[in-house]
Amino acid sequence: MPESVSIVPAPRYVEPGDGPGLGLGAGVGLLVGPHPAEIALGVYVARLAERIGIGPVDMLSADDGRDHLIELRLDPAAGPVDADPAERYSLVVDHRRAVVRAPAVTGLYYGVVTLRQTLCSDPSGLVYAPALRVEDAPRFAWRGLSVDVARHFYPVEDIELVMSLMGYYKLNVLHLHLTDDQGWRLDVASRPGLVERSAGSAVHGAPGGYYTSDEYRRIVAFAASRGITVVPEIDVPGHVNAALHAYGELTPSGEPAEAYTGIEVGFSRLSAGLPATRRFLQDVFTDAAAMTPGPYVHLGGDEVLGLEPDEYAALVGIAHDAVRDAGKVVVAWQEAAGVPLAPGSVLQYWDPRTGQAELVAAAAAGCRVLMSPGSRAYLDMKYDAAYPRGLEWAGHIELRDAYDWDPTLLVPGLRTESVIGVEAAIWTETLTTVDELTEMLLPRLTAVAEVAWTAAGRRSWDSYRRRVAAHRDYWDLIGVRWYPSPQVDW
Ligand code: ACM
Repeated sequence: MPESVSIVPAPRYVEPGDGPGLGLGAGVGLLVGPHPAEIALGVYVARLAERIGIGPVDMLSADDGRDHLIELRLDPAAGPVDADPAERYSLVVDHRRAVVRAPAVTGLYYGVVTLRQTLCSDPSGLVYAPALRVEDAPRFAWRGLSVDVARHFYPVEDIELVMSLMGYYKLNVLHLHLTDDQGWRLDVASRPGLVERSAGSAVHGAPGGYYTSDEYRRIVAFAASRGITVVPEIDVPGHVNAALHAYGELTPSGEPAEAYTGIEVGFSRLSAGLPATRRFLQDVFTDAAAMTPGPYVHLGGDEVLGLEPDEYAALVGIAHDAVRDAGKVVVAWQEAAGVPLAPGSVLQYWDPRTGQAELVAAAAAGCRVLMSPGSRAYLDMKYDAAYPRGLEWAGHIELRDAYDWDPTLLVPGLRTESVIGVEAAIWTETLTTVDELTEMLLPRLTAVAEVAWTAAGRRSWDSYRRRVAAHRDYWDLIGVRWYPSPQVDW
């Protein structure tokens, strides 16, 4: 990559072009196609141009031959031909034009993001795009971030900000951890008591909250505008105290559980022997699936310390069947590897302490594996011992720890083809505000994004640490808090 260009994640192929590049001032043309998604992207680019000082653009539906044009063109042959047409793109910038081509609108969006990341200002303040040529496509299809909105709640606006950051780094899956012991955060039609009685609580007495069905729709729509698929997680059969508090019929005594606002894990559980349990699981998973246009629903399955394997398998099986009956693909934490899952289901690896053999066996039986190793991708771990927030059970994660790993080399015996991708996770036991959240995400989320996007042979720590330094300007511009890792010369 040219020294002056700081694209993160690093593209598959980039080379400098001839000449100084394209000056971008008021009156630059923006040529977009006629489909609603193309027009929506055009509006996004026009707003962006105003916000970053380029000024008003001329939206064009036909090429009028002018110089100084940004062109977004759907083209089935664009981008690296061996890559998925849904995400690949090309970008060519010369002194007349910046042309993004892609087979699909998400690829056009990624080309725009890449162009945005290359913009500079000359001494007079004029914004310009350096001349270059990019051919780009991701290494992994699943490039995710899991956000725990159960321990502390984050309203839609906060989630939109997080999705904006995700889009800027070409992450394409938002996994929402919507339920846990401390609170239930999604209103589902069949069980209004869940949010009536269990959404008001959060860790250590913090205010709770929940997403109405309209708000969830807003999240899904915003996600779509950034090429992001939303995966809702209803965590069962453990991490269910909020459900047991809302519905006493789910406890053996028939009495609702006390609300819980501590941060222990592993103590709550559903009971397979209770008649109400099966209906509960069927109802909530059917509702979550119906509210979600994307293909995946996550059923949790982690950290159920008080359940025998047979009862665990029975409960996961009911949730699994409800998700499948609703036409969705099951995602579950790695603990579910011992339960028979439909081929194509996704198991999410997080804990190196257990279960690697079961994971390899499940993959051999047709499951896919998503990599979220706690010691690399859990962005709620402290940066170092002195950092004031975060947990430490998986160690400290400085920027280089989040960067220097390969998702296909974590689990001995797991075939590379079984790895569907990479997902960062942020658990919020100790994170109460969106500022605290983004300070944990930035810069480490950009490191995980490059692990997920860029082929192993085309990335290096030395290159990344130089490029990421330039991104502080963007974070400061949009006003998000970030952590000045001492491993980078900011
Ligand atoms: C997890 O961290 N309990 C998935």
